Amino acid sequence: MLRTFRFSRAIPPAGPLRLSNSFAPSRTERLSARQASGPRIHIAGLRMEKKNFEDEAGEGDRSIKKSSAAAKFKPEVNSMQRLLSSDSSGGWEKCWELGLTPWDLGRATPVITHLHQAGVLPKGRALVPGCGTGYDVVAMACGERYVVGLELSDKAIEKANELFSALPNANYFKFLKADFFNWNPSEKFDLIFDYTFFCAIEPEMRPEWAQKTSELLKPDGELLTLIFPIDDHVGGPPYKVSVSDYEEVLHPMGFKAVSIVDNEMAVGPRKGREKLGRWKRPARPSSSL
Ligand SMILES: C[S@@+](CC[C@H](N)C(=O)[O-])C[C@H]1O[C@@H](n2cnc3c(N)ncnc32)[C@H](O)[C@@H]1O
Repeated sequence: MLRTFRFSRAIPPAGPLRLSNSFAPSRTERLSARQASGPRIHIAGLRMEKKNFEDEAGEGDRSIKKSSAAAKFKPEVNSMQRLLSSDSSGGWEKCWELGLTPWDLGRATPVITHLHQAGVLPKGRALVPGCGTGYDVVAMACGERYVVGLELSDKAIEKANELFSALPNANYFKFLKADFFNWNPSEKFDLIFDYTFFCAIEPEMRPEWAQKTSELLKPDGELLTLIFPIDDHVGGPPYKVSVSDYEEVLHPMGFKAVSIVDNEMAVGPRKGREKLGRWKRPARPSSSL
């Protein structure tokens, strides 16, 4: 489904949404997704076979419905959820320390690499809140775009710096430890990219997420959301999301969707459960007084 709103300054059409048939069937969906995304940063020793967050979460939920015996198939997500629910302040750090990071794709999400390479992302300053290992941060960073990866977890930042600080584009990104909700940088952003952060926070925090996003973005800045996981599972994180969940909190902040389309470049089991949303705040008509 495509919803389009007209603005005085149009965002370039979302090219990637028409290209995704480059997903050729292959041995595994994940492998084909990697192939479809074009060049990728290769880092020796990087773990590539990480289980998928959504795969695990979805199966975990089904397992709970089916039988407790079946739940043992997805221990990583179950353990992560237990940890987060038992420790609201330090749960994320513990997940990182224990290597309970089932959301981690082990690479940038293909659509962000594609949008970057297609030259359709805003230049200037970009922010990735809850960036995790920071693959998406690194994928977008270039001479024309400085990217800040914001993370609550020291361990995540340590890992990101270990992996990426020697890359040729390392001058164009940084990882910063801060709580997104309390962070007040001196400069605003031209682009904010949210992927698996909205679904990771408690649903009652979503209005605050929208408020903070609005504060951090320049008036003509773009919010790019990979809306995931769109399904009907219970509990989280990841909590289920829908386009209307985003609209509910973004519309009061003045954001309108420029486009919302299926992300056909979604990896493996995320396919069909992920939409790309591009949001802006239309310029207010100037007063005639
Ligand atoms: C589900 S993970 C997603 C990581 C990354 N976006 C990805 O797709 O791989 C959510 C991340 O948000 C971080 N996080 C949670 N609450 C946060 C907050 N209030 N401020 C900044 N980061 C936060 C966690 O430490 C975790 O790394």
